[in-house]
Amino acid sequence: MGFFDFLTEEIAIDLGTANTLIIHNDKVVVDSPSIVAMDRRNNKIIAVGQEANQMQGKTHENIKTIRPLKDGVIADFNSSEQMISMFIKNIPSLKKRFFTPSLRMVICIPSGITEVEMRAVRESAERVNGKEVYLIHEPMAAAIGIGVDIMQPKGNMIVDIGGGTTEIAVIALSGIVCDKSVKIAGDVFTNDIIYYMRTQHNLFVGERTAERVKISIGSATEELENPPEDMSVQGRDLLTGKPKEILISSREIHKALDKSIIRIEDSVMETLAQTPPELAADIYNTGVYLAGGGSMLRGLDKRLSQKTELPIFVAEDPLRAVVRGTGTVLKNIERYKSVLIK
Ligand SMILES: Nc1ncnc2c1ncn2[C@@H]1O[C@H](COP(=O)(O)OP(=O)(O)OP(=O)(O)O)[C@@H](O)[C@H]1O
Ligand SMILES: [Mg+2]
Repeated sequence: MGFFDFLTEEIAIDLGTANTLIIHNDKVVVDSPSIVAMDRRNNKIIAVGQEANQMQGKTHENIKTIRPLKDGVIADFNSSEQMISMFIKNIPSLKKRFFTPSLRMVICIPSGITEVEMRAVRESAERVNGKEVYLIHEPMAAAIGIGVDIMQPKGNMIVDIGGGTTEIAVIALSGIVCDKSVKIAGDVFTNDIIYYMRTQHNLFVGERTAERVKISIGSATEELENPPEDMSVQGRDLLTGKPKEILISSREIHKALDKSIIRIEDSVMETLAQTPPELAADIYNTGVYLAGGGSMLRGLDKRLSQKTELPIFVAEDPLRAVVRGTGTVLKNIERYKSVLIK
């Protein structure tokens, strides 16, 4: 421990397409939608996180809401940096500090990220006072967060279905043996619902409404044991222009999502097909772990289990598995050196 270490604070960040989570002193201190609201007149950020999320779809010409990440990577550097910086500044225990502390950070990144994108994340982190910045692949963080012993000579398969990407990885001996990252995840499910409503019911619904429908009655299979009750959905009638309400069933949402779920199934099957046989044997015995918000879609575990003929386990608190793992790595940086990206 160096003399000036008391000036350094440690944080672990899961910068997600849908949600940003930060762990500081073993506690989740930020768990907010990755969204900013900006004043178009002066390009100033007026709100981030939950507050900005509530403005989504309800802005006027002077305000716009931006989701700085798309498909798992930063699409708008300026607003993403400002968003991270505001989240960090608002961490209660750091707010009290007289000056901004320098930060030791572990940040997770999607496994499909390019060198250029990786460098950009690192530079962004350095600009928000990151003095020591470490990166880790998202499925690796998810595995650690789930409690898998990633250092063993044993294969484990992780499927992290987030907002922007589904990351599938087989992990053994602290490394990713084979992986696949597809841009089909929660956001696509939400868009599928918007499209379905428009084409089947002439109803134009917003993103927030569609997401609510997905979470309340969304389903990956037709054969749910306890299907949720039909849900009334409001939007604008595309023919008359009037506000309208219709009743939607879980079965219909299953139809809307089916194509996207097939693509996730196919990607899981492709990754299994690339897995070396010794590791495949391990996965046959241990099954597959799911993480990420998308894994909470009703019946998705059952459907993947039918397709792969493997046991499927959904992580406890799947929305936080990645940040939990990132936090574990931050706390034991020496032990996990081998999983950090140089
Ligand atoms: N109960 C639920 N059922 C279905 N989907 C859900 C549920 N709860 C959350 N989601 C979806 O999970 C997604 C967010 O998951 P998560 O926070 O893991 O993504 P992320 O880490 O921000 O994205 P990424 O890892 O792709 O960058 C959103 O699309 C959200 O709508
Ligand atoms: Mg994620």
